[in-house]
Amino acid sequence: MSTFFEQVDPLKNQAVQAIESASSLEALEEVRIQFLGTKGSFTQLMKGIGSLSKEEKPLAGKTLNIAKRELEQAFETRRSSLELEALIPKNSTDFTAPGRRSWLGNSHPLTQVTRDIVASFRKIGFAVADGPEIEDEYHCFDALNTPSDHPARDSQDTFYLDQPDAPLLRTHTSSVQIRVMEKQEPPVRIIVPGRVYRRDSPDATHNPTFHQIEGLCVDKNITVGDLKGSVEFVFKQILGKEVKLRFRPHYFSYTEPSFEIDFSSPLVKKMGKDWLEIAGCGMVHPKVFETVGYDPEVWSGWAFGFGIERIAMIRYGIDDIRLFYENQTGFLKQTG
Ligand code: DAH
Repeated sequence: MSTFFEQVDPLKNQAVQAIESASSLEALEEVRIQFLGTKGSFTQLMKGIGSLSKEEKPLAGKTLNIAKRELEQAFETRRSSLELEALIPKNSTDFTAPGRRSWLGNSHPLTQVTRDIVASFRKIGFAVADGPEIEDEYHCFDALNTPSDHPARDSQDTFYLDQPDAPLLRTHTSSVQIRVMEKQEPPVRIIVPGRVYRRDSPDATHNPTFHQIEGLCVDKNITVGDLKGSVEFVFKQILGKEVKLRFRPHYFSYTEPSFEIDFSSPLVKKMGKDWLEIAGCGMVHPKVFETVGYDPEVWSGWAFGFGIERIAMIRYGIDDIRLFYENQTGFLKQTG
């Protein structure tokens, strides 16, 4: 055997080692040129076949081809693993971090509107609060200064449950005002997005369950001006700068004075109307403060409540509330 054959294995091993330790795609390419390029050492060895004897040539050709294939194989394996490594971010990734946005589909229109309202209130210092959907009469009515002969407590309007300590489904998110004030000393700045229930038969504008956002602000020297300013800021953020609001005197047992808010904008005009009634609000009634143990001589506050479906219907030009609950993908895609 000539020295030719003795060179093949060491050179191949040297090349495989260099391939496997190449730390980048560029380094790997250099290794490839070094061994398999036109002037590469492996290529040079192949060229040496010409000077071998006639008997040695076939075996030499075969040996080199096997070795070359092995090298190419090692080269491909290393290349694909380096390519994969290149896809992994250099800085370590925190896989427990919450996703920044969903990668599939879009949020339900009611979720989108709720998020936008919450985001606007957060900008002016409000935090989100929560409370139970299965409520008692005290938090839903009594503590809100709603006497037992008030029509809101009529069993025609409220779903009553057959259990002693939590006997009804809340008809509004106002119950959470009480729950928060019971637990917390003033000042308070909260909003409460949540589901409410009423014994309405479903039609284009009613559904036995829908969603509200409640707001409550308690501090020293809070005035109707603060109420108007805050509500106006949020409505302009979610429904456009052209929004106009009108506060009409109204009655709610837990606020005094109380107002209903009408709202006008190009979106309302599109619906063929000048004004739409959109929310109830007012200055927290002193009796409510007394009930939760806040001194009404020291603290004042405002509260509001409005329907999320209503806002979403105006925003997206939807004329039937039932569409929100039917899960038709065709409808849901339109608000994406
Ligand atoms: N709870 C009322 C409703 O469901 C809305 C409301 C009106 C909430 C006035 C308030 C308020 O906080 O002050 O229609």
